[in-house]
Amino acid sequence: MLDIQKIRADFPILSQKVNGKLLVYFDNGATSQKPQVVIDAIAQYYQEINANIHRGVHTLSQLATDAYEVSRGKIQNHINAKHAHEVIFTSGTTHGINAVANGFASLLKVGDEVLVSALEHHSNIVPWQMLCERTGATLKVIPMNEQGELIQLEYDKLLSDKTKIVTVNHISNALGTINPIKEMITKAHQVGAAVLIDGAQATPHLKPDVQDLDCDFYVFSGHKICGPTGTGILYGKEDWLRKLPPYQGGGEMIATVSFEKTTYADLPHKFEAGTPNIAGGIVLGTAVDYLNGIGFDHIAQYEHELLTYATEKLSAINGLKIYGTAEHKTSVISFNIEGIHPYDIGTIIDKLGIAVRTGHHCAQPIMDYFKIPGTIRASFAFYNTKEEIDAMVEAVKKAQMMLS
Ligand code: ALA
Repeated sequence: MLDIQKIRADFPILSQKVNGKLLVYFDNGATSQKPQVVIDAIAQYYQEINANIHRGVHTLSQLATDAYEVSRGKIQNHINAKHAHEVIFTSGTTHGINAVANGFASLLKVGDEVLVSALEHHSNIVPWQMLCERTGATLKVIPMNEQGELIQLEYDKLLSDKTKIVTVNHISNALGTINPIKEMITKAHQVGAAVLIDGAQATPHLKPDVQDLDCDFYVFSGHKICGPTGTGILYGKEDWLRKLPPYQGGGEMIATVSFEKTTYADLPHKFEAGTPNIAGGIVLGTAVDYLNGIGFDHIAQYEHELLTYATEKLSAINGLKIYGTAEHKTSVISFNIEGIHPYDIGTIIDKLGIAVRTGHHCAQPIMDYFKIPGTIRASFAFYNTKEEIDAMVEAVKKAQMMLS
């Protein structure tokens, strides 16, 4: 059992008032709040060891480098990567996806196919479209059903020896669907395709095991898992990372440079050009430690309770429709109220202290599927409570009354 009040006390922002009301923060899908230990670790880095990494022989540079590499090791353990050098620090999920999509430009040709899913965030669509434009490869889409689940029979039909990469999210940001990625990875490998998993929405809720999943790439963001913004991870299997060209050129990603020829540094540095977000990378390790201290089994169980409770309460509101009713779902509820624009509900409930996301959630194809402009999305974290859900339900009812 989680001691939620004790956990909430770790997050200073949760005791803050917004618009004169105690904040109810249900926009965790967009970014998570930060515990004091993370906030302190950022200040501590700048107060005590700020220096550039992998460069100087001086003591602070060594301390900063060690702390950065310790953090890499923590992430390696967290996702069960075989090697620390398979863990690349990025600025976030978008960076990770773009790095891989760019790398594939050297491998694809006309007639090859890239499979994305109908459930993707724009960041897992646009880089692949750009790749297809550059190479002449074709983008194909795994369709979804009314529940917001990917249609596996259609996926089977789309896979062929033309498929070079399948790129799919672990969990949908807009609907909360948990995709059966392990099975999807196995099937993709049977036709020789690589698989990238967008784990941005999964990593706040579960601990991925990249070796068990056997994915070729797994990307996620630090800011959604209690870490700083501008941090993220690209995990890639060693063979793939060796095969792909670097995404950016610059300092630290080289072995030798002359005007005639440059050779690249070994992994992971080949993919880490320039001075990285050093404090962010180090503190991402602190965030992962914090979450593991709570335990992902506890987090998943508690968030499931919140999801069930909120689904029941919201469903009881007249005219409210939930989008995304997959059998396997995480603690995300997207909904609309008949005849009312989601933006109007979002604006009114914000005045009542409730923070949700409204709009298309950077997933316009999903909204097009349902023929709606957007939804109101409440996304819960382990520090949320049933009382907060009650407050949101009351606020939504009030907004509905005002707007009807
Ligand atoms: N991708 C983030 C979200 O779903 C920003 O809100």
